[in-house]
Amino acid sequence: MIIGISREIADGEKRVAINPESAAKLIELFDAEVRIEPNAGVLSGYDDSLYREIGARIADGREEIFRDSDLILSVDAPPDDNLRQMKRGSVLICFLWALQNPERVELLKELEITALGLDTVPRISRAQTMDALSSMSNIAGYKSVLIGAGELDRYLPMMMTAAGTIPPAKVLVLGAGVAGLQAIATARRLGAVVEAYDIRPAVKEQVESLGARFVEVPAVDQDTETEGGYAKEISELQKEKQLEVMHKHVRKSDIVITTALIPGKKAPLLVPASMVEVMKAGSVIVDLAAEQGGNCELTRAGETVVHNGVKIIGPLNLPSSLAHHASQLYSKNLLSLLTLLEEEKQLNFNFEDEIILKTTVTHRGEIISPMLKENDAGLA
Ligand code: NAI
Repeated sequence: MIIGISREIADGEKRVAINPESAAKLIELFDAEVRIEPNAGVLSGYDDSLYREIGARIADGREEIFRDSDLILSVDAPPDDNLRQMKRGSVLICFLWALQNPERVELLKELEITALGLDTVPRISRAQTMDALSSMSNIAGYKSVLIGAGELDRYLPMMMTAAGTIPPAKVLVLGAGVAGLQAIATARRLGAVVEAYDIRPAVKEQVESLGARFVEVPAVDQDTETEGGYAKEISELQKEKQLEVMHKHVRKSDIVITTALIPGKKAPLLVPASMVEVMKAGSVIVDLAAEQGGNCELTRAGETVVHNGVKIIGPLNLPSSLAHHASQLYSKNLLSLLTLLEEEKQLNFNFEDEIILKTTVTHRGEIISPMLKENDAGLA
């Protein structure tokens, strides 16, 4: 088997799908040849020579990777032109975002590529080591605090100096999923006083165990969580209650980090412009939902907006800014999924396994993932 690792070509993308350590494990796991596109790992600190050292081969160019490989591993989905160069029946594993990209799914079906999306690995304990969404959200949560602290014109920890005592900064985290919990932990380590809120009451305990205070909003909606542990869209009345409470907490915060998402929907609005207007000049909002429309009304994806002295930052692709560790963790997630798929040194797609079933988007010209099938039926 030939396993190809392509270079990421999206703007600002510095990650690589497989680092040299995981490439060595793949060679052993499948008795395979691993081929790397030249300079695929250079922006994440993995030079071609490191891949050569572990026995991988550096390909002559990009085309060779797509044309010859039986399995292609990447972070983002390769462009359509590259998909068209792939062999019929070959396998692609990457972040596919199939629901958001139906044309790509059609193409993968037509080309008879077996495509697996790391974004649809089910969130069950057996799949934790394959959960690349969590690995990347963790990085985003950590980095959001560093960005906020870097932009703030104040200390985060309490400072007792000869020139006087400075109280700790107040950080408010809205949305306490994987990214939010990491943001809480990081802000606490830097000495800030942290408050957090999430629509799912189940996270209260996790927030408190990290040393933050959980902000309570009177519950109107009884059912705010899906079976899979994700948030549901809430009623207008619940939104009103939420905004009322948030107003008081946002007003006194030095940094607000927003991470609230609802799968497949535009990000919920948690910080309207009127709320930004009551914040102190010099405060910072870091909106991790920027790519999905933002949790703050004034967010502009990829930009920093200054409104009444408050900075509103809408960072894009934070995992790429920690490319070395992001690639290391992503590689491990991929390796773990591939270990599940391996049987007698080959890839075996046993759709009786929930993880393989839910992660496989297309196989032999058919849609496999039940979530996509449902969506397809809904659209028909
Ligand atoms: P996400 O990125 O989809 O959303 C982030 C957070 O925003 C969530 O906690 C959500 O409840 C919150 N949110 C949505 N709308 C909101 C609103 N209007 N106001 C306030 N907060 C709002 O979520 P993520 O981080 O992907 O995690 C989803 C769930 O999956 C969590 O319960 C997490 O603990 C669970 N999970 C389970 C794993 C496992 O068992 N293997 C692994 C990773 C996550």
